[in-house]
Amino acid sequence: MVLMERTTRQRQPKNVQPMSTSGSRVILGFWRIAQWGMSAEQVAGLISACLDLGINTFDVADIYCDYQCESMLGAALQTNSSLKSRIKLISKCGIALVSPARPTHRVKHYNTSREHIVASVDNSLTSLGVERLDLLLIHRPDPLMNADEIADAFGELKQAGKVEGFGVSNFLPHQLELLQSRLDMPLRANQIEISLLRLNSLFDGTLDQCQRLRVTPQAWSPLAGGALSNQHEETHLSRTLSRLANELGVTREQLAIAWLLRHPAGIRPVLGSGKLTHIRELVEAQNIQLDRQVWYELLEAAMGQPVP
Ligand SMILES: NC(=O)c1ccc[n+]([C@@H]2O[C@H](COP(=O)([O-])OP(=O)(O)OC[C@H]3O[C@@H](n4cnc5c(N)ncnc54)[C@H](OP(=O)(O)O)[C@@H]3O)[C@@H](O)[C@H]2O)c1
Repeated sequence: MVLMERTTRQRQPKNVQPMSTSGSRVILGFWRIAQWGMSAEQVAGLISACLDLGINTFDVADIYCDYQCESMLGAALQTNSSLKSRIKLISKCGIALVSPARPTHRVKHYNTSREHIVASVDNSLTSLGVERLDLLLIHRPDPLMNADEIADAFGELKQAGKVEGFGVSNFLPHQLELLQSRLDMPLRANQIEISLLRLNSLFDGTLDQCQRLRVTPQAWSPLAGGALSNQHEETHLSRTLSRLANELGVTREQLAIAWLLRHPAGIRPVLGSGKLTHIRELVEAQNIQLDRQVWYELLEAAMGQPVP
């Protein structure tokens, strides 16, 4: 039985439009940048190496590393000015943390007001040292979200040339539908937690909606924050991952990423590793095409039971 076939090029699923014409299928996220212990020059080197691997899209948020992440990335970009024109930047706004960096915040909350969105983008641009974001995401659905206000903010930012495209993160289908109903441009992405340890979006309509509206799903924590790497975990999923990876001649992590890439909605994994060896290995998962039954074997192991 042929379990998988290797292909030399990655085919874009027919019904899925890319985030933008040149955004890469695999994205690198900087949420953990403070843990990497890298100098600005080393981060610039990592970005440069990612470009060589075909990753040109990088994910941050205003709040990452207690509001320091965008400045850390900005400092890296400052050391090698040729990088800015070669990369695509995604940032997010809408979460307000209690932090010394934001002394007026008394309680953690969400803020999707027009003023907050516009001010947050201005801040992101300054911290990153760039003139434009390629994609801005509303980080989490806000119960006080006024879709008309967000539409105004998006229109203003687009008009000013500060943001190219817009999307959401962690939105359920009805929340995305509401926002989309007030916009005169299509939302481009919904960045959601998807992995073999987080299956909700397969069954709650989120990925169906992405396919229907041609919104690109971006998978955050595609290795469940590293938990899928733990070979010593005595679970059915862990044993199945190890066995199948061994049979297919790939690593567990590559298999976990290939499982996401196999979905017809065109999931784009947002990797969180700061190690080039790991990033290189995961990019190679694009060359693995999983057989449908292997995909279901992993789903069954992840669910803990066969499909009905
Ligand atoms: N929109 C949202 O609400 C949201 C929430 C959370 C995160 N995000 C985005 O998603 C990105 C990724 O999240 P994540 O960091 O949790 O992703 P992840 O890829 O699931 O986990 C990355 C972690 O796994 C570890 N790891 C262990 N073995 C690995 C291997 N063989 N290959 C690769 N990684 C391995 C990495 O360590 P090493 O560095 O040692 O490789 C790193 O600590 C973030 O950077 C952020 O941009 C978005």
